[in-house]
Amino acid sequence: MSTRRDFMGMALGGFTAVGAIGGLYAAKRTWDPLPSVKAAGSTVVDLSEAKEGEPIVEKWRGKPIFVLKKSADMPNNDRDIVVKGARYHVSIALCTHLGCIPAYKKSEKKFKCACHGGEFDTSGINLPGLPPPSPLEIPPFAIEGNTLLLGSEGPEYLKMKKNNLIA
Ligand code: FES
Repeated sequence: MSTRRDFMGMALGGFTAVGAIGGLYAAKRTWDPLPSVKAAGSTVVDLSEAKEGEPIVEKWRGKPIFVLKKSADMPNNDRDIVVKGARYHVSIALCTHLGCIPAYKKSEKKFKCACHGGEFDTSGINLPGLPPPSPLEIPPFAIEGNTLLLGSEGPEYLKMKKNNLIA
């Protein structure tokens, strides 16, 4: 009798485990983006539109992205993206404190966050003594001619990542 009960218990446990795995698989398929959505996760930024000192705001995967063509008086930084001899700062425009969207203040050459007074320089580096704990994050990018492909990990991005410059 107890053998039969053991068998029933094991069988029920097996069905439950199979059901749980099946459920997880179905949930993963539901949550995973469709291939068409993944392909649409890239944004092409035409840099020929960029003017020195005037950031363009792009959108990538629902996030705002700053693309600032640096002028000669803006300091070099290892986070600069150099395309056809011009330097660009590209970052996700979400403050690293609590996620507000900073605004570029042209007269001060800073990205300023109105929420709690955070400030970032033209390389997206957080200024000391203010709430943001880290620089603005750099999105994955690849350089193609005079364009940036946001969402692709090109060699320049991978080099920055290796050197811990992304955020
Ligand atoms: Fe930007 Fe707090 S969210 S300083």
